[in-house]
Amino acid sequence: MKTLKSLFDSNRIWAEQIEKEQPGFFEQLSKQQTPEYLWIGCADSRVPANEIINLPPGEVFVHRNIANVVVHTDLNCLSVIQYAVEVLKVKHIIVCGHYGCGGVAASLDDNDHGLIDNWLQHIRDVYRFHSAELDSIEDPTAKKERLCELNVIEQVGNVCATRTVRTAFKNGQNLNIHGWIYRLEDGLLQDLGVTVTGLE
Ligand code: CO
Repeated sequence: MKTLKSLFDSNRIWAEQIEKEQPGFFEQLSKQQTPEYLWIGCADSRVPANEIINLPPGEVFVHRNIANVVVHTDLNCLSVIQYAVEVLKVKHIIVCGHYGCGGVAASLDDNDHGLIDNWLQHIRDVYRFHSAELDSIEDPTAKKERLCELNVIEQVGNVCATRTVRTAFKNGQNLNIHGWIYRLEDGLLQDLGVTVTGLE
């Protein structure tokens, strides 16, 4: 049986390194988590939440799926949001998309992608909401990049529309929803300037 020994080896080295720098780190962290951030991002292997914002275990609650979509009927995502807001009391929810997103690109072609086409339909909806703007962009790369941005902005709206977030806003809970985008080519984040801090 193949056991992926190399991964267990690197895990041990990683844990030892952290324990050396901060003795008792894991023991301490095992008792509770108090992250300030909920990260909703793409499942893409090149966009790992903690690494990008350089935060250690315990600092970010994370939900990832293909193309960072927040669907009103997705019990998985809704449960993550509820737990993060009501129990962990995170102060920030970050929806982070990325340029060069394969899911967004796939939503733009007519190929058969199998099951995932159902999921990508949510991004085709985003296109439809913004078709006037997107249709006017001739350059295919620019069009794709803009759809990546608009997808994030729409998902920020979807987060705000959840019962959990609306209730938190009504109760005056300190909660901010952000829309960010990441560029694979330089590893840098950009704030899309759509932060929501209450019922508006
Ligand atoms: Co992606």
